[in-house]
Amino acid sequence: MRPNSTMSTVPTSSTTRTTPPSPGSGTDVFEELESQVRSYCRSWPATFTTASGSTVQAEDGRTYLDFFAGAGALNYGHNHPVLLEALIDYLRSGGIVHSLDMHTAPKREFLTTFRDRILAPRDLDYRVMFPGPTGANSVESALKLARKVTGRQHVLSFTNAFHGMTLGALSVTGNSMKRNGAGLPLTNTSKIPYDDYFSGATEDFLWLERVLGDSGSGVDKPAAIIVESVQGEGGLSAARPEWLRALSDLCRDHGILLILDDVQAGCGRTGDFFSFEEAGIVPDIVCLSKSISGFGLSMALTLIRPELDQWEPGEHNGTFRGQNTSFVTATAALDEFWSDDAFVGRVRERADELHTGLTRIANGYEGAVVKGRGLLTGVRFPDPTAASRIAAASYERGLLVETSGPEDEVLKTMPALTVSQDELRSGIDVIAAAAAEVLGTPAVSDEGAGERAENTNEGDAK
Ligand SMILES: Cc1ncc(COP(=O)(O)O)c(C=O)c1O
Repeated sequence: MRPNSTMSTVPTSSTTRTTPPSPGSGTDVFEELESQVRSYCRSWPATFTTASGSTVQAEDGRTYLDFFAGAGALNYGHNHPVLLEALIDYLRSGGIVHSLDMHTAPKREFLTTFRDRILAPRDLDYRVMFPGPTGANSVESALKLARKVTGRQHVLSFTNAFHGMTLGALSVTGNSMKRNGAGLPLTNTSKIPYDDYFSGATEDFLWLERVLGDSGSGVDKPAAIIVESVQGEGGLSAARPEWLRALSDLCRDHGILLILDDVQAGCGRTGDFFSFEEAGIVPDIVCLSKSISGFGLSMALTLIRPELDQWEPGEHNGTFRGQNTSFVTATAALDEFWSDDAFVGRVRERADELHTGLTRIANGYEGAVVKGRGLLTGVRFPDPTAASRIAAASYERGLLVETSGPEDEVLKTMPALTVSQDELRSGIDVIAAAAAEVLGTPAVSDEGAGERAENTNEGDAK
């Protein structure tokens, strides 16, 4: 509304105007104003400005190689030119940006493309739900739906799982520091051992099979079991395909829904679009987020077997479920990378090279093991402080690489899937140099690459 003489009470005289605050430089305002809860900026205190592919520039002129990829939200790198063009064209056209769950042309194109490029070729029959903008929104919707459909409350999840920071997602998460943040009891869930939790000493699912078949066990039948194929935050343990198949069979035999949380390991991270393809299983519900928009824009999907789609209209809701900018870049990403097998082939080549490079580093240090799968691979060092110190030394050398695991004991590499061979080699060289600085000169370097690996089915993935 334009102010008029009778209603305006806002002083307009130039003498009463204050000078607009200067954004200034440095990091003072972050310290002064931003909550203590911030975390990544404590490890990487640079002020970042521009980014392209696998590199990021900072205000001080330094360039960093990115082996973090937005915690998995940037599988196609920063500002991919094809996605950027699609986004700019859409915005310039005056296209609608926000639309909740109303019909829009970008949503139609996304759904059509997702069906034709991802679901149909894999013979997957899922309803697509837009649960809200984040991975945690997808997990919450999956838990709610599983409880509604089965009429049961209990949900099982795995040791060292991570499913997000909202209360329902935290209730199925393992990490005690993050769980304590809830400030109330996280109920109606139990943890069961992930693959190889007992280092092969116990038959897979022995306990669960027994108690589910024993009416005297006192264990309530769960509504669902939620699982990650690779535990991205919990230490990069990767489930074996046969373990995932046994889990899927167990769920089917006992009428328990299987929720596969592919928020971090999906969208090509392990070499296939879905991390569970290798195991040949079809989960009842799949959670996707992070890289589904392809551009780092917020977006999440919950994929639901059609007969489970028993929501009442609006029973799960949210303001940010129809971001057309995300639909536009997501469609462009599916067209650009998933129209044939070429991209998958390149991702698998890079994954092999990463695995070989990290194995060479691990072989230099007694007790170090390679963990993970695909381009979600790292090294666990016996000294739980080593990974954090190596990540810090890598940052000083211009590499962004983080840690994973309950004690941050795993150095976690997650480069963009579009990383070049040269960039991958440079990053591995930086890690090797940082490890030598922190842990001393490696005992052996080039021998036995591929020999010492734990909880990694890298070989199977090829
Ligand atoms: C497997 C998994 N599930 C869920 C989430 C939560 O996603 P968001 O941070 O977008 O809520 C994450 C985040 O790292 C994740 O790795």
